[in-house]
Amino acid sequence: MSYILAIESSCDDTSAAVLRDDLLLSNVIASQKVHEQYGGVVPELASRAHQQNIVPVVDTAIRNAGIEKEQIDAVAFTRGPGLLGSLLVGVSFAKSFAQALGVPLVEVNHLQAHVLSHFIRTPESATPPPQFPLMCLLVSGGHTQILLLHSHFDMELIGQTIDDAAGEAIDKAAKIMDLGYPGGPIIDRLAQQGNADAFQFATPHIAGYDYSFSGIKTSFLYFLRDRLVEEPDFIEHHKADLCASIQKCIMGFLLKKFEKAALQHKVRQVAIAGGVSANSYLRNGIAALGKKHHWQVFVPPFQFCTDNAAMVGIAGHFKYLRGEFADISLPPYTN
Ligand code: KG4
Ligand code: ZN
Repeated sequence: MSYILAIESSCDDTSAAVLRDDLLLSNVIASQKVHEQYGGVVPELASRAHQQNIVPVVDTAIRNAGIEKEQIDAVAFTRGPGLLGSLLVGVSFAKSFAQALGVPLVEVNHLQAHVLSHFIRTPESATPPPQFPLMCLLVSGGHTQILLLHSHFDMELIGQTIDDAAGEAIDKAAKIMDLGYPGGPIIDRLAQQGNADAFQFATPHIAGYDYSFSGIKTSFLYFLRDRLVEEPDFIEHHKADLCASIQKCIMGFLLKKFEKAALQHKVRQVAIAGGVSANSYLRNGIAALGKKHHWQVFVPPFQFCTDNAAMVGIAGHFKYLRGEFADISLPPYTN
């Protein structure tokens, strides 16, 4: 039995979690509201907010777990990818905390952590974790990848975006409509009242299992520009339909390629992960595909979709078992 303290600070969420083996004991997330007024994450402000949040967040995570810090066996931290100034806060804190306790450090890749969130056990876990091979659609603000997992850390890249990430595309669509930041959850909410077939936006033909989202964003922008000439209140009058239509376009494109990839690779277990996996169209869509093809589908609980330290903790747990420890001199990486 081992206790892992995990720290995540790659972007604009400061988070700490404690796990006892694969069981999650606490997961504390401090989200940074300061970026909303700028319509995107401001790196310098993110770094400063992490510095303010890290001590209380870690302290709360340890207290919520009901343990003493002396019981911690290892400290896992997100080493990258992410924003350098943000990562530095978590990485430096993890190193000094581990050194003070005299316990090993475990470095975690943020993307692997998103995928491995499906292996976190909670008191509410109803089903056993996935088995291998597992195909996972990883969709976040910075990444869009189809991965084929042969084991926890053997992740084969099957396809990926050649330009914007899916989350980035949906956030940009929201920005064009002046809906606020981050736009993904806002579009998801407004789309509930809209007609997803009201407007059509073309999706590009990309070979294999790769994606491209920059063209969708541009066609959305030009479509609105033309309509606004005829009707200045076009966005206001058609907001819900626009949200539902662009959401269907992006999520439908994600699902279509993923379905092809899963069929081609003959997998029986599929999953979605990352911030965009909180999207209701995507969650319903993957569930429907599972029904159609008799796949077992893994959809993460909402608390593990966007950035959190619990996922860093589970990745850290598997590495701890393998004795894969990090040297104190390791720098963070951005890509
Ligand atoms: O994984 P994440 O928290 O951070 C990165 O590692 O990038 O993902 C953030 C992304 C943002 O683009 C945000 O708009 C999107 O996840 N997102 C959503 C929803 N909730 C978060 N996109 C669509 N629908 C949602 N419900
Ligand atoms: Zn993330």
